[in-house]
Amino acid sequence: MSWYASIIVKILVTGGAGFIGSHVADGYLAAGHDVAIADNLLSGSADNVPADARLHLVDVAAPEFDLVMERERPDVVNHHAAQMSVTVSARDPGLDARINCVGLLNVLQSCVKHGVGRFVMISSGGAIYGDVHQRPTSEDVAPQPLSPYAIHKLTGERYLAFYRREYGLSSITLRYGNVYGPRQDPHGEAGVVAIFVGKLLRGEPPTIFAYSDQPTGMSRDYVYVEDAVRANLRAVESDAVGAFNIAGGAPVRTGELFRAVQAACGTDLTAAAGPARPGDLKENWLDVSRAERVLGWRPEVSLADGIARTVAYFRGPARRTIPA
Ligand SMILES: NC(=O)c1ccc[n+]([C@@H]2O[C@H](COP(=O)([O-])OP(=O)(O)OC[C@H]3O[C@@H](n4cnc5c(N)ncnc54)[C@H](O)[C@@H]3O)[C@@H](O)[C@H]2O)c1
Repeated sequence: MSWYASIIVKILVTGGAGFIGSHVADGYLAAGHDVAIADNLLSGSADNVPADARLHLVDVAAPEFDLVMERERPDVVNHHAAQMSVTVSARDPGLDARINCVGLLNVLQSCVKHGVGRFVMISSGGAIYGDVHQRPTSEDVAPQPLSPYAIHKLTGERYLAFYRREYGLSSITLRYGNVYGPRQDPHGEAGVVAIFVGKLLRGEPPTIFAYSDQPTGMSRDYVYVEDAVRANLRAVESDAVGAFNIAGGAPVRTGELFRAVQAACGTDLTAAAGPARPGDLKENWLDVSRAERVLGWRPEVSLADGIARTVAYFRGPARRTIPA
């Protein structure tokens, strides 16, 4: 336990106008912390930002980011800002590197300059391990990244180790599986639950991308966004360092996921089939026992409950991310 567990701290959430970051900002506010957000709205929306958080419109890779740090003087920086699509990273590796590597370094330099006490970095357990044979995959398995997105996330983790050694910056990395829930972009290139729900509610057949030798689709490890939020709370309450898988801890094939979403939407629309995209892993199943052992975190929301809550959100009046 760190001293952050018992007092109110100032937390800057980068990417806090996005899907997961905005829920994390909600979670920190609910725990009584003071929250500021740094986001350039590349894929996020000001509508997602909680009313009690201060929003700074800034690019994390730009020199102006340091002015935000100067003004806010946060105790903790939680880094969610990223280019988060594997497909986009394969199309434009330079863009991904600018945001996910250069942006991270700019944030880390500023953290050192302003004496930040704790850094939470978001990585991807759904991408960095590649198609390794050890499943469920633990944090001890050597990553074999297959896409520029995964390469840059892993590089970011290695930079954290450098900043820890060189400057004593206390840091933790949360390696998410496939996070889903309210506010996820149903029109994005990633976020299959939101894409399926969005399409089915509009009466359009979604596409299941698959390799030819996997007729029921690839496997992914899904985690509901509220579970991810609890991991971010534990990450600042604890002094633990290093990487932690944060996922549901069970593999689900895309075909199986589609049927669950179809049932929750109450439709018999079927899905079209499409080829796997560059960088798509065949299998992903994460071992989450380290997070349970060290952080006291485990996933609590079942896939069926999480999908039901997501469908209810997209059906409801507060659907801020699904245009009519
Ligand atoms: N969604 C998932 O399943 C998943 C899985 C693993 C890891 N992650 C990671 O979680 C984090 C959040 O992802 P998300 O799904 O909420 O995506 P998102 O696109 O909704 O959120 C990313 C946020 O970062 C902001 N941003 C992007 N570039 C920026 C820049 N240069 N400066 C400032 N802000 C910038 C965007 O505007 C957006 O608000 C990312 O780091 C992503 O890589 C997500």
